[in-house]
Amino acid sequence: MGTSRIAAAVLMLAGIAGLASAQQSGVIAGRGEAAVEVELTDEQQLGRRLFEDIRFNNPGSNITVSCATCHVPHQNYKGERAYSDSVSRSIIPSRGGGRDLTLRNTPTLLDAADAMAFNHDGEFDSLETLIEAKLLARQYGWTDAQQDESSAEIKNALEGDTGVAGLANGTYVEEFKRAFDADLAETNPADTLKLVAKALASFVGTLKTTDTAPYDAFAYLNRVNAGMADTDTPDEFSFRLFGLLGNQEGRLSVKWPKPWDETVYQGFKTFYRVPGEDETAKIGNCVACHHPPHFTDYAFHNTGVAQMEYDGVHGDGAFSKLDADSVITGRATKEDANVADLGRAAHVDDESELGAFKTPPLRNLGKTSPYMHNGAYETLEDVIRQKIRASAMAKAGTLRNADPELLRMTITEDDVEELAAFLRTLDEVPPEDFRDIIIKDVDTRKILPE
Ligand code: HEC
Ligand code: HEC
Repeated sequence: MGTSRIAAAVLMLAGIAGLASAQQSGVIAGRGEAAVEVELTDEQQLGRRLFEDIRFNNPGSNITVSCATCHVPHQNYKGERAYSDSVSRSIIPSRGGGRDLTLRNTPTLLDAADAMAFNHDGEFDSLETLIEAKLLARQYGWTDAQQDESSAEIKNALEGDTGVAGLANGTYVEEFKRAFDADLAETNPADTLKLVAKALASFVGTLKTTDTAPYDAFAYLNRVNAGMADTDTPDEFSFRLFGLLGNQEGRLSVKWPKPWDETVYQGFKTFYRVPGEDETAKIGNCVACHHPPHFTDYAFHNTGVAQMEYDGVHGDGAFSKLDADSVITGRATKEDANVADLGRAAHVDDESELGAFKTPPLRNLGKTSPYMHNGAYETLEDVIRQKIRASAMAKAGTLRNADPELLRMTITEDDVEELAAFLRTLDEVPPEDFRDIIIKDVDTRKILPE
């Protein structure tokens, strides 16, 4: 067995979990309480080492990268990161000098393995195929014509390893033997690459959020379901939530763990409110796509981000006239009006996928800026303003292929601060500090409903 440990999967401390889940239907049992350190398997540990290895690039390229260069596990100059970096597009190795950049923003890898399709546009249907393709492609400094060279280079690097690097637990030859019972000398480059991808995918599968955010403390203290059950629709979930809150508000028993206050609480309600609940209050309808516990449905929606980028370059209304069949995938540029990012439509030939991107999870946003598939928004406030604009355009009929859920939103600039304050309560604390949030400085909301 490997010796390293990481704080990962949510294994609960039974006492607290039992309390919350026993009293409600639809609770995702076992989430939201405490995370414990789990031991990595040999395969996962090998994946963790490969994740930080910079020897798999095209040797002729100007910089060397590992997965961790873009999916930063710990800190960079912007502070803590959650397996993403701090720029809208990341630098990739190139051969001719100059700076090549990724097409899109580097996403977090926390909870990424739970999706059904991978990358912002869902290009890949498994982590293994995504990782294989990535190791052979431009992101590692290779051209399309160099596929054979690249897998041979990876195999050479593995076989030449002397096992002294930081995360090594023996040489790669020894580690592959332990993890897969594979003899690298006997394995051809293509099959070696498959094993590399398998180990990396196993490691990526261990990267999970811990459900230790102030939001989870709020959910626990108020017996609110921290996760949405598979049998719920977002509307059903929302109605039940508001029924419960109304009850607690009437008895002055809504509990606020730190840093909850009236601003956060109103943002929380706006986030979860759907039409039909309270017609006088602002409707965020965010829960339609951002379901707890990961705050995503892992589905694809067009929320206008690509259109706004394109129209920003070519003028309002330009995206609506774009001929989808002649589009070359890329960042909008003055030089060529055919270059655009149509998201999911690049892989699924269906107008309904035009401009659709995967709903990102919303935990730990404090460690993943900038936001959206193109990293166009630096702050949460600006993300929320983008949603308000998208909703207004959808209602005016000027957002091409708008997701119908945008029509159900009624938020305005007045709601930006509250929603942003709520989103910040989804930033998780280390599991060992979570208990303190549940126990210390818990306030009770003192406002009676009208
Ligand atoms: C040069 C920066 C860079 C490097 C190096 C890199 N990635 Fe990525 N990664 C990205 C970007 C950008 C995306 C989004 C791609 C897209 O949607 O077009 C991404 C997407 C992913 C995804 C999909 C996540 C999701 O939610 O769909 C996974 C998984 C992933 N990378 C794992 C890895 C692994 C494992 C490695 C190392 C073998 C790696 N990445 C190396 C930048 C990088
Ligand atoms: C129709 C589905 C849908 C609704 C409704 C919706 N979102 Fe989103 N959200 C998305 C998608 C899809 C993206 C990614 C868009 C892109 O990259 O082009 C996104 C991106 C985000 C991001 C950026 C996260 C990141 O890591 O880049 C935040 C924050 C966010 N949404 C918050 C909200 C809030 C708050 C609301 C309610 C006011 C809301 N969303 C309503 C689908 C939705």
